[in-house]
Amino acid sequence: MSNAPQVPNLRQGKLEICHTVEQEWRSPFFFRDTQTFEMVAQYAAPELTRRQSIRVWDAGCAFGPEPYSLAMILRENMSQFLFRNVKIHATDIDASDFGKLSANGVYSETELGRIPREIFERYFIAHSPGRYQLVEEIRHAVLFQLHDLLSLQPVREDFGLIVCKNVLLDFAPEQRVEVVKMFHRALIEGGYFVTETTQKLPPGTEHLFRQVTGAAQLFRKVG
Ligand SMILES: C[S@@+](CC[C@H](N)C(=O)[O-])C[C@H]1O[C@@H](n2cnc3c(N)ncnc32)[C@H](O)[C@@H]1O
Repeated sequence: MSNAPQVPNLRQGKLEICHTVEQEWRSPFFFRDTQTFEMVAQYAAPELTRRQSIRVWDAGCAFGPEPYSLAMILRENMSQFLFRNVKIHATDIDASDFGKLSANGVYSETELGRIPREIFERYFIAHSPGRYQLVEEIRHAVLFQLHDLLSLQPVREDFGLIVCKNVLLDFAPEQRVEVVKMFHRALIEGGYFVTETTQKLPPGTEHLFRQVTGAAQLFRKVG
């Protein structure tokens, strides 16, 4: 029998909703880029669970769909006991939604349209007409914080995983280099960095990471 971790099939049972290409890129939604999440679950989660405390940085998290999706994926791949040690530091330069979101994690039906049905049923409870709330276990795993990536000061330096998706593409090439170097500093030895599938490591930073799989822009810190 295989020892491979249980990776949920994130493409099955989705509630359907239409998005234009522009919306796909600009508007965050739950379970965006499921392939990358599957790779994080398959390669990074088993390594991360070997540690006592699991710190994740979601840099440029917008109004919460990405860090909360990540929390659900990690919970799917960990026991309740191990998941208690997970903290996802979700940061963004625009903190206008943070108070409301970190306090209650309530989203409208349309914002939740891409979530696989069995995951939706496990982690959301009805809140008010057309609105659903994330269960406390997931909400408590995510800490929202205002942070400007271009300050080049990491929020901490003990992350096992850094997620930065659909953010670097708006930066100038030299800014991307500095931000990726900052991520490298902010990772523990052997920590993981993941970005969107269309984003490559900026020139001059390739030696800092090794790509873990060709199926995602998932990298492991070297050096
Ligand atoms: C297109 S959204 C991506 C959200 C999410 N990562 C995703 O892929 O679904 C880009 C996010 O980056 C944030 N952002 C832009 N410049 C930033 C900076 N200098 N520091 C931190 N966040 C920034 C924006 O506020 C926005 O929420």
